[in-house]
Amino acid sequence: MSPLPSSVGSFIGIDLGTSSLKAILVDDRQRLLAAATRDLHVHRPEPLWAEQDPADWIEAALSALRELRQIAPAAFRGCRGIGLSGQMHGAVLLDQAGRPLRPCMLWNDGRSAAECAEIETAEPASRDITGNIAMPGFTAPKLLWVRRHEPDIFRRIQKVLLPKAYLRLALTGEAVEEMSDAAGTLWLDVASRDWSDRMLAATGLDRSHVPGLVEGSQPAGRMQAELSRELGFDTPPLFAGGAGDNAAGAVGLGAIAPGASFLSLGTSGVLWRTTGRFEPRADSAVHAFCYALPGLWHQMSVHLSAAASLSWWARVTGCAETDLLAPLGERLDAPSPALFTPYLSGERTPHNDPRMRGGFARLGHDTDRNTMTQAVMEGVAFSFRDGKAALESAGSPIGEAIVIGGGSRSDLWLSILANVLDMPLHRHAAAETGAAFGAARLARLACTGEDPREICLKPEGTPETFRPEPALVAAYAARYPVWQRAAAFSRELQ
Ligand code: XUL
Repeated sequence: MSPLPSSVGSFIGIDLGTSSLKAILVDDRQRLLAAATRDLHVHRPEPLWAEQDPADWIEAALSALRELRQIAPAAFRGCRGIGLSGQMHGAVLLDQAGRPLRPCMLWNDGRSAAECAEIETAEPASRDITGNIAMPGFTAPKLLWVRRHEPDIFRRIQKVLLPKAYLRLALTGEAVEEMSDAAGTLWLDVASRDWSDRMLAATGLDRSHVPGLVEGSQPAGRMQAELSRELGFDTPPLFAGGAGDNAAGAVGLGAIAPGASFLSLGTSGVLWRTTGRFEPRADSAVHAFCYALPGLWHQMSVHLSAAASLSWWARVTGCAETDLLAPLGERLDAPSPALFTPYLSGERTPHNDPRMRGGFARLGHDTDRNTMTQAVMEGVAFSFRDGKAALESAGSPIGEAIVIGGGSRSDLWLSILANVLDMPLHRHAAAETGAAFGAARLARLACTGEDPREICLKPEGTPETFRPEPALVAAYAARYPVWQRAAAFSRELQ
């Protein structure tokens, strides 16, 4: 990246994820100066439920910001802008005073299947307007669930915000949302990038219940003066609209040209394609949403338990993930004899079924922890193969992808994925902080008005490439139909 005048300043990106919040500080040449992470916990008080306390996000963000200040005090003080990236779809329900009325129901919460059907009956054009099947996990059906099961709370709702918009409200006092995340509510007219009165009405709401809209690269408030002073900024930083976490990852990778794709191996799994226009293919259970930059959209397949499957297995076995992976080495000779279907929270693409559950199959006396760990990683890879087929049915073939997300730290997992998907995967340094980096770029765009094509460049340096190996590609291709039978069985067995 070419040197820029130092007046461009430094920027912060905060990625409010599901298992952790990550904050980074970058300089005017987009070099990483400091990074801080805070773990977050998901509460599952009932089967199908997944919730978080919004107060935990604020505490995590403030504590991560203080750590950035400690690591790079001068650049922190001079920070001009903050960009937010966030886990999508969650419903933060606020009362008149802007206080959460209940815990946030998350993107992988599966309680609202009946309400999805109700929305599509109430508004038959729902799929045309939103580009998506109404799926549990999206925001709108959650509101119908609350209306039915918690009517006292529903009556008191003044505003509904997505997770990162709630964090922004806490830091700036402004209720603002941007297009990529707004598209995941099922209340946005995704082609025209505006709230849909018809979709809001199908949920018993109107425009007064949703925040104002900006593009991800536009200004969206300033940090409250007192908080800014307390944190130690010279001037209250400007906030950018930011992005849903997958769109933020795309901005971080410079995936801004139509056709650009990447694979995110985070808590959820996502295979992404940037599109130059709104290209819905709802029947394939592929999502079609706005991008965080004006004039762009995207499609993605979404798998609800990707790296979350390995975390679950670590919890069950009582082992650290690194200890589970260490005995397996960096590459494999053959697929595991065991099979795993990763439907711990149900699945979106291609099944759209929150009630299906995961399982192990083909266990024998020779099955040990290592074969089961390998099966867990392979099961996630096979679900990505389902997603790739769905995405390809909604557009052109995907021949290669960059990888981001916490799971991409594992060479072994990337080698399994390259072989199961039969395509090369490229990993750049700092693949884990992709979404926070994208958010920092959006902060810069909001502050400087620069051309996104000059700022959202592809990662520098040569990536590490994981190439498919013919013998393993053939072995996994033979195993895939067997795994699909296990997947079908997971669906039947409810
Ligand atoms: C996308 C989705 C997930 C979350 C994870 O539709 O639900 O990728 O954004 O944070």
